[in-house]
Amino acid sequence: MTELVADIESDFGEAVIRGLSQPRKVIPARYFYDLRGSELFEEITQLPEYYPTRTETSLLRRHAGDLGRLAGRGRPVVEFGAGSAVKTPLLLDATGATTYVPIDISSEFLDGAVARLAAGRPALRIVPIASDFTYPLNLPHLTGPLTGFFPGSTIGNFDHRAAVKLLRSFGQTLGAEACLVIGIDSRKNPRLLEAAYDDAAGVTAAFNLNLLQRINRELDGTIPIDAFEHRAIWHDGFGRIEMHLVANRDIAFAAAGQHFSMRAGETIHTENSYKYTYREARLLARASGWEPLAFWTDPDELFGLHVWTAASAELQP
Ligand code: AVI
Repeated sequence: MTELVADIESDFGEAVIRGLSQPRKVIPARYFYDLRGSELFEEITQLPEYYPTRTETSLLRRHAGDLGRLAGRGRPVVEFGAGSAVKTPLLLDATGATTYVPIDISSEFLDGAVARLAAGRPALRIVPIASDFTYPLNLPHLTGPLTGFFPGSTIGNFDHRAAVKLLRSFGQTLGAEACLVIGIDSRKNPRLLEAAYDDAAGVTAAFNLNLLQRINRELDGTIPIDAFEHRAIWHDGFGRIEMHLVANRDIAFAAAGQHFSMRAGETIHTENSYKYTYREARLLARASGWEPLAFWTDPDELFGLHVWTAASAELQP
């Protein structure tokens, strides 16, 4: 169970060396989520500027009846990424699921998710799987059609090609007649987006900068944190918010046994968060072997909750 987690940790040094050696420096967003990063992300979800969490939660509440009807009553629910204390019970209640399968790379998150749910639901069968959900998985202990759950617009952190690959892999994991309940953030006024990713209280800045602190803590880094500033910018051509760490002066530092230097104004690109129009989300579904079945949004059209069904039993890899 801990093997994959250990792999991910030893990957970190390699990913940092590779990413900081490129002409345009980059560190993959998945390394945000050490313990401190996960705490900061939880704080982000409560911020007034960060609309996705509360909007998706209210969509799950408002459309519980339809979800129950469309997403397969009583089917096992397979969640990709350990669920939040709020969203998962909403889907479980809406569909009347009696089996819940959370998949997460971190056994710590899984333990937390399992404990939270088990406390209030003694009858729920919980089958936690500690694994990287970006690869197809065998779920032999489950029978019948399955319902996948992928909330939070996590799909937005994958570029388009990777998103299609991931959603196809979900199809393979879930099998024939599956359906997928997926939250996808919508394209909107760039001012709202930039505020959501650069909040007044500075929590998102702390989340971004924690990546450098993590390098210093885990990879014997000597990065002067005060030489960096958080930047979030909307890139209309790519339809994504980009997060960067910008050097405010020329610096040199060590990390993972290597030496690096940066000029003032140079950036480390740390995250993309893609936003989808309704039409783009439907194209994404079809390109990934899914057929759109239902879609709900809030009155301000900030966020989309989609139900898709497996387009064919024979999903191509
Ligand atoms: C996890 N993911 C969907 C978040 C997002 O909105 O892209 C991560 C995040 N980054 C900054 N704020 C939130």
